[in-house]
Amino acid sequence: MAILDKHKVIEKNATLLMVLSLAVVTVGGVVEIAPLFYLENTIEDVEGVRPYTPLELEGRNIYIREGCYVCHSQMIRPMRDEVERYGHYSLAAESQYDHPFQWGSKRTGPDLARVGGRYSDEWHVDHLTDPQAVVPESIMPKYAFLADRMIDGEYIEDVMRANVAVGVPYSEEDLENAVADFRAQADPDSDSEGLQARYGSESRWKSPPVNVRNFDGKPGISEMDALIAYLQMLGTLVDFSTFTPDASR
Ligand code: HEC
Repeated sequence: MAILDKHKVIEKNATLLMVLSLAVVTVGGVVEIAPLFYLENTIEDVEGVRPYTPLELEGRNIYIREGCYVCHSQMIRPMRDEVERYGHYSLAAESQYDHPFQWGSKRTGPDLARVGGRYSDEWHVDHLTDPQAVVPESIMPKYAFLADRMIDGEYIEDVMRANVAVGVPYSEEDLENAVADFRAQADPDSDSEGLQARYGSESRWKSPPVNVRNFDGKPGISEMDALIAYLQMLGTLVDFSTFTPDASR
């Protein structure tokens, strides 16, 4: 066939083959990459997804510091075995405000993307204090020391400002109230109206109410409180009974 004969010319000339291959790859690359510079955002916003409250953000930093991601992923893939075990597959929007994201690729322990609300706070305290007391065959290390490390949110506004610098939309009001919100969330007797107004169902995010509790059951705010506040909200922001994926995107 004539067209194949013409191709023979290219195949027999290494330089020509290289130049033309490069041209093809360049066109393909431009088609894929160029639109990204013009799109405002490649992530579809989903109702309910909000930035972390100050206490949850602190808990997330502890999670990263302790290397929990070495054994735990936070991304449920859209495959049947995963969806049946962990719940609805993860949406891009759900890690929209994560810097850095915690998707991970290593699952020595289970995926934690939807662990929020699955266990009681007491379960988490017992499990983090001594995992083998709860799950005898567990190889997870003990994190009992977190309960003795007291924190007061001294630097949390700075941490939030660092997040703002990479695009997390905390408002001036969120930042001004960082320390107050940090303390209010760990104290069930505190006035948490402001915290709920900024992050709860009446907030601009229309998220579920923020969990306000004494997470570790002990007086004062410890790293255990912050870590459990974080774990208990993971995967709980989107209401999947009303969510419908937009297939056109
Ligand atoms: C050496 C690996 C390892 C590390 C590091 C690790 N875990 Fe685990 N984790 C496991 C394993 C294995 C399990 C399953 C057995 C169990 O429940 O203890 C587990 C279970 C869990 C569960 C229960 C999940 C479920 O759906 O039942 C939570 C929550 C959890 N880990 C949180 C953490 C947190 C928070 C950290 C960091 C402070 C952490 N893990 C660090 C290995 C690890």
